Amino acid sequence: MIEACIFDLDGVVVDTAKYHFIAWRALAEELGFEFTHQDNERLKGVSRMQSLEILLEIGGLQFSEPEKLAMAEKKNTLYVSYIEKMTPEETLPGVEKFLQELRDSGIKIALGSASKNAPMILERIQLSGMFDAIVDGNSIIEAKPNPEVFLKGAEELGVLPESCVVFEDAIAGIEAAQHANMYSVGIGDLETLGFADLVIPGFDGYTVERLMKELKAPFLFSKSGKA
Ligand code: G6P
Ligand code: MG
Repeated sequence: MIEACIFDLDGVVVDTAKYHFIAWRALAEELGFEFTHQDNERLKGVSRMQSLEILLEIGGLQFSEPEKLAMAEKKNTLYVSYIEKMTPEETLPGVEKFLQELRDSGIKIALGSASKNAPMILERIQLSGMFDAIVDGNSIIEAKPNPEVFLKGAEELGVLPESCVVFEDAIAGIEAAQHANMYSVGIGDLETLGFADLVIPGFDGYTVERLMKELKAPFLFSKSGKA
């Protein structure tokens, strides 16, 4: 029985990839090479330092650890200047309604994100209160596809991994959910995420009942919600 849902943040709840792109591209420009939208795809779900490694590999450049830390810090300062201005309107379509329906039904909700900026983003889009547990880049050691972030989420919620559904837009995130022995729902296209238990384009028009049917997994409703 499904008792909890764990949500990735970037690309599932909000579209922050565009801000990451602007900030990484500015760094690449400063270093004298081009960073494309296609390159940016490789950074989805990847931690900040790993993203920098990929970026430097694209540029064919090498730096010392202190230099890399300074670059990541600079990129983050620019990124934060964008996300600081985020508003609730930037929450992806249908997400808030879906979260509310889960809450009304007594299904527990956790965030499982690699981002160290997750608390600030949730605050800006005014969704912090929807989550019973928040596991982010500040509280994990291992990056996805390691299941740590989701296993911690389940532990904080007090549920077994097999009673959780993970919503993810990144390949590494779906892999992490599978390693954690959780149900996985890919947010995006079938071509990329087809190995997940279910793939949906987004939450717009999605109800908990529809999810339950398509996932072929029963939910344990502890409150009489509208589901
Ligand atoms: C998410 C995003 C990645 C990002 C990572 C770290 O997983 O999909 O693109 O690099 O979080 O984010 P942060 O805000 O800590 O730099
Ligand atoms: Mg993501």
